[in-house]
Amino acid sequence: MSWRRSPHAKGSLVRRRILSVIAAAVAVAGTVFAATPAGAQPSPSGVQPNIVGGTPAPDGAYPFMVSLQAKDGEGTGYDRHGCGGSLIHPYLVLTAAHCVQGAKPEDLQVVVGTTVLSSNAGEKRDVAELKAHPKYQFPNYDVAVLVLKAPVTSVDAPLLPSRGTDALERPGTTARVIGWGNTIEQSHGNPGNGNRSFPDRLQQVDVPIVSRAECQVGNPDTKIDDTLVCAGVTHKDACQGDSGGPLMREATVDGRKVWFQIGIVSGGYGCAATGAPGYYSRIGNAEINDFIREFTG
Ligand code: ARG
Repeated sequence: MSWRRSPHAKGSLVRRRILSVIAAAVAVAGTVFAATPAGAQPSPSGVQPNIVGGTPAPDGAYPFMVSLQAKDGEGTGYDRHGCGGSLIHPYLVLTAAHCVQGAKPEDLQVVVGTTVLSSNAGEKRDVAELKAHPKYQFPNYDVAVLVLKAPVTSVDAPLLPSRGTDALERPGTTARVIGWGNTIEQSHGNPGNGNRSFPDRLQQVDVPIVSRAECQVGNPDTKIDDTLVCAGVTHKDACQGDSGGPLMREATVDGRKVWFQIGIVSGGYGCAATGAPGYYSRIGNAEINDFIREFTG
């Protein structure tokens, strides 16, 4: 159809329309795909793209990665992608509360194990239930769990840190974030200054963990408390469209490489700007951990 733009075109009309419809719903209901405080990531339309400074992910590298999509959209998965997420159990997807607040389960579709959105590959599932953390107030406790109508089996879920631990969060160590968000840096004086390029293929980038004190200096308008973990460096960060996706550390357990998911993409002041690392919902936080484990058991 004529309105369908190539995945590599700058942005996508269809996608922008779908996201703004969802954003409007969210703004009213105070929901997911939208609502961000001024200065934080979401642009006025509620849409934010990206991974900045990364490289394309190889096919199949992150089988637990989820694209959270508008269910009744036109176009391909590229057009309908809204946020990231991760499959933490055959029936459960972890994402950011701001991605789904105000949305209804029937508005959403979960696609697991796709790398190239427009390929329409991956397992698609409907959402039975959507639960945000009871204390959610952006960007704190920005966590939601989606319960799927049918399971996705045979996927190795990322491991989650233990309740109350910060063992994998030493400042200066490297974590990885993945997503289909905007790949264009945004200066923090002017978040969402307009330039966007959404990749069709999943992107990955390694970012240094930043101490909360340093992160607070870089994000003066946000309360950087222990519900958040920060990561990022000039030219490398998550960005709009990456929200809900995983911040991870690789580890070797019993001779096998595994991923620990330590955070969920939440927000930032611009993207990849000097002095403004991104912030992530912190899975090691006791109350966030408890909320998730109520579902996973
Ligand atoms: N809130 C954004 C989203 O909805 C993610 C922003 C992440 N920004 C950053 N600089 N790390 O996709």
